[in-house]
Amino acid sequence: MLAGQRILLVIGGGIAAYKSLDLIRKLRARGATVTPVLTAAAEEFVTALSVASLAGEKVYRALFDLTDEAEMGHIQLSRAADLVVVAPATADLLAKMAQGLANDLASTLLLATDKPVLVAPAMNVRMWLHPATQRNVMTLQKDGIGFVGPLDGDMACGEVGPGRMAEPLAIVEAIAAALGAGPLAGRRVLVTSGPTHEPIDPVRYIANRSSGAQGSAIARALAALGAEVVFVTGPALAARPRGVTVIEVETAREMAAAVAEAMPVDAAIFAAAVADWRVTKAKGQKIKKDVKGSLPQLQFAENPDILARTAQMKKGRPDLVVGFAAETDDVVKNAAAKRLRKGCDWIIANDVRPETGIMGGQENAVTVITETGVDVWPRMDKERVAAKLAEKIAACLRGDQ
Ligand code: C5P
Repeated sequence: MLAGQRILLVIGGGIAAYKSLDLIRKLRARGATVTPVLTAAAEEFVTALSVASLAGEKVYRALFDLTDEAEMGHIQLSRAADLVVVAPATADLLAKMAQGLANDLASTLLLATDKPVLVAPAMNVRMWLHPATQRNVMTLQKDGIGFVGPLDGDMACGEVGPGRMAEPLAIVEAIAAALGAGPLAGRRVLVTSGPTHEPIDPVRYIANRSSGAQGSAIARALAALGAEVVFVTGPALAARPRGVTVIEVETAREMAAAVAEAMPVDAAIFAAAVADWRVTKAKGQKIKKDVKGSLPQLQFAENPDILARTAQMKKGRPDLVVGFAAETDDVVKNAAAKRLRKGCDWIIANDVRPETGIMGGQENAVTVITETGVDVWPRMDKERVAAKLAEKIAACLRGDQ
């Protein structure tokens, strides 16, 4: 998968540095060569000896190391790779990169390189959420730096939230995608996500509890496998995935138009919780409640079924159309019937009874219904469901299933 690719790996000083040892192993197992660079802080967490042994390469450490300069100057080192990866990327390293500082070997290489750069941030939740770090992240994104992670979850410091470094396998996939080598490279995939808002009047609307977390995670996982992703989202809470084309819509009809516009695609994943009905004549002014005893009468019209429309396209239908079925009873039976009714290839069914905590929660328990059978996946975090689904989509488009 990465045969012959040269990765310059900058290891920053954070507890997640231990995961970079596994990252080196995984990259080498896929045929890449890894040239490691350790910051001074990184040496507090991992030793140059273990990094060198796993990489099978010399470890670069200090800017003014004359032996290194004699062998390979720092400018040359920064350009001899196909991709520069920073893992873990600490708050300090991100700040240096955003400011263009060059006061040690790692930051100098990052400033001098003319190669694409991918960073895997890892830090305490508060540090990640701090406006200064978020400002730096935005600057770096504008500069074209790629990001993988951070993930939400328990951290070594005991806090919970975003800041955990992406798992080595996810970083490998992001590296493959950045190098145009992912299994979905050259594929265009559409993902719908989030709720839709159907206006009643300028201030009121009909909506549902979808957070958009599962749809965002799916878009991120597909992009990590190298797909070109068009992400059409309603007004969802979830952070928008990076490295994808994001199209923000509000109503079902806007979502339908954006989906039609995005065609043709190789696969379309409909994770949005689209409102089934809209108010026929949304008022241009706020409906007053001051008329005694009179309640507003709302008339409803059915929204376009975007999934069914796409699945039943006569010309230019995506090779794979995947729908979701959020059910509260007879989950598999209802979902299997829905697959046939809509004409899609797969249905991902989930039980959204409030006691499951799935809608709006971090975890999901899904059942994948295809033409050939019913596959019950164990309950896992939405990121993992997304990664597993992305792998299955890649295998299907490759013709493996
Ligand atoms: O019919 P139901 O809403 O249960 O179907 C759910 C599936 O259909 C989801 O994949 C959802 O994204 C899609 N859908 C749609 N347009 C609608 C309603 C549902 O694309 N108007």
